[in-house]
Amino acid sequence: MSEAVADTVAGAVAERFTELYGAEPHGVWAAPGRVNLIGEHTDYNDGFVMPFALPHKAVAAVSRREDGVLRLHSADVEGGVTELRLDDLSPESDKNWTAYPAGVVWALREAGHAVTGADVHLSSTVPSGAGLSSSAALEVVVALALNDLFSLGLRGWQLARLCQRAENVYVGAPVGIMDQTASACCEAGHALFLDTRDLSQRQIPFDLAAEGMRLLVVDTQVKHSHSEGEYGKRRAGCEKGAALLGVDALRDVPYAELDAALARLGDEEEVRRLVRHIVTENERVERVVSLLESGDTRAIGPILIEGHASLRDDFRISCPELDLVVDTALTSGALGARMTGGGFGGSAIVLAEETDVDAITKAVTEAFSAAGFTSPRVFEAVPSAGARRVR
Ligand code: GLA
Repeated sequence: MSEAVADTVAGAVAERFTELYGAEPHGVWAAPGRVNLIGEHTDYNDGFVMPFALPHKAVAAVSRREDGVLRLHSADVEGGVTELRLDDLSPESDKNWTAYPAGVVWALREAGHAVTGADVHLSSTVPSGAGLSSSAALEVVVALALNDLFSLGLRGWQLARLCQRAENVYVGAPVGIMDQTASACCEAGHALFLDTRDLSQRQIPFDLAAEGMRLLVVDTQVKHSHSEGEYGKRRAGCEKGAALLGVDALRDVPYAELDAALARLGDEEEVRRLVRHIVTENERVERVVSLLESGDTRAIGPILIEGHASLRDDFRISCPELDLVVDTALTSGALGARMTGGGFGGSAIVLAEETDVDAITKAVTEAFSAAGFTSPRVFEAVPSAGARRVR
């Protein structure tokens, strides 16, 4: 999104805030959704991930209050202003969208930060349920606004940790740290190489257009939800694997020792498959980083394809729609393709030569129609800015 467009959006969100609450907001903030290039389900195994921020973002107009009241409104959900008392906020008490911003306020206060209330109006262009981190964008934009308004002095990675806590404990979804860190810390024109163990990060230049390529996001329109059981089951299975192997996290199983580790797992077939995915996926992230750093961008295509096979066959979180995107894109000339995000629906990414984009988009759309699936949404993903104040 250009600066001029971003400013128009911020203006519209501020104007709506003023209508709702009768005074201009103290400021306007924006936080993006993300797409993950490689490193799936590695984040709750202390491993590596490589997301980048999308131009789609949650925008929040916010004012500070001193009276222990939180008022929330969203342009994207029917209904009026929700009013909550900060002292009444309690984990897993709210099954609506308001749990995300309220959870952030709860997490900040629980960590000892003096947040005394706020009026919030939100509007987001991140598609929800598409595996593009619409929830993280909502959390991070509110966290950043409160960080500024209450002069908390927290850094991006610290806000990400608090947002993850809000989602784990307040919302009740056992997600890792990738999405919140991506939204808080990504930079335009870069992918974020993140070590989820200590949150150390490296911004890797990722400008596909300059090299005649594009990265497409194909939203299958199959909705997923992380509070449902399958994500948690994978996480529990990984933790079981780490316990059986006597390590803190699967990150601690070196790729060179994978075969020995699998042998030690004996007839624990399900755990063996999960372990194999995590250990090979961490190695794939490292390979992608070194190829990008040496300027060999096209060579990451086959690694994306390997990653998809591992998620489909070992981790078992793909679905027919995601597989159809990947298979069709590859037979239509894509350099690489894989599902991205939590799985069981959501989106796939396709790396392609610029000249092949139209043919691939057409082929995928036609394949969906022939299979009787809902038509997918296809758009180009350009690495965009992380969370920031826009007014
Ligand atoms: C979801 C979670 C992340 C991560 C991905 C899978 O997006 O929110 O923490 O686990 O799935 O890589």
